[in-house]
Amino acid sequence: MIKSKIIAAYEQMADKYNELIEHKPHNAYYDRPNTLALLPDIAGKAILDAACGPGKYAEILIADGAEVTGFDISPRMVELAISRNKGQGTFFVHDFSTPLHTLSDASFDVVLCALALHYLADWTLTMQEFNRVLKPGGCLVISIEHPFFEYNFFESKKYFEVEHVKCTWKGFGQPVEVNSFRRPLQECIAPITENGFYIDKLVEPRPVPEFEKYDPRHYKELNEFPSFMCIRAVKR
Ligand SMILES: C[S@@+](CC[C@H](N)C(=O)[O-])C[C@H]1O[C@@H](n2cnc3c(N)ncnc32)[C@H](O)[C@@H]1O
Repeated sequence: MIKSKIIAAYEQMADKYNELIEHKPHNAYYDRPNTLALLPDIAGKAILDAACGPGKYAEILIADGAEVTGFDISPRMVELAISRNKGQGTFFVHDFSTPLHTLSDASFDVVLCALALHYLADWTLTMQEFNRVLKPGGCLVISIEHPFFEYNFFESKKYFEVEHVKCTWKGFGQPVEVNSFRRPLQECIAPITENGFYIDKLVEPRPVPEFEKYDPRHYKELNEFPSFMCIRAVKR
């Protein structure tokens, strides 16, 4: 089953991912600055960090005065998020393809979901749940793999389909097979706009200058073609 392979991959990678997350260029100098820039003023706000990984985003948000609740499907990632955040924030194991029964309606100002939605074939229920837990006017901020990058990277011949794809990651310790789902652009937009949101901003990010010091080749490539896409959507 694809989901169990995704969990096993993140359980295997979790400690190394946590160790590298401060300066891993695609996270620290490409995804995080561009995704964080889409957040409203978060001091005193309630934020749900969906698929929180080892809690690096949560750490930044807590330092900026937010009240953070985070979840992840990987139990080891949740342990690392708890340990990184030293008793601040609330973290639990949860699969975002299932309902968030423990969270009340209209209880968050912001839902953040960074670099995780490509592990889901169907975003419908997840978007409905993100919408339900947001307060009226609250916003959803996501970062995802750019659909055009994925189409090229996976050498797809079926642009219009949501396809199961896999590749091997070598940057987090032992090589690990990572399974995910690539999708056309309309399948990145329609599940958001058809489930109670309007899209307020869409960014095709550029790496920040520090990236170049760590990985000059990808710095050049990412300034020529995007790998990620960031979206801010507002609850209607
Ligand atoms: C690339 S990491 C991103 C982690 C974190 N958002 C960050 O940007 O640092 C992807 C995360 O998604 C989690 N994940 C994958 N499938 C999930 C699911 N169905 N429900 C919740 N989390 C999931 C993984 O365990 C992993 O921690």
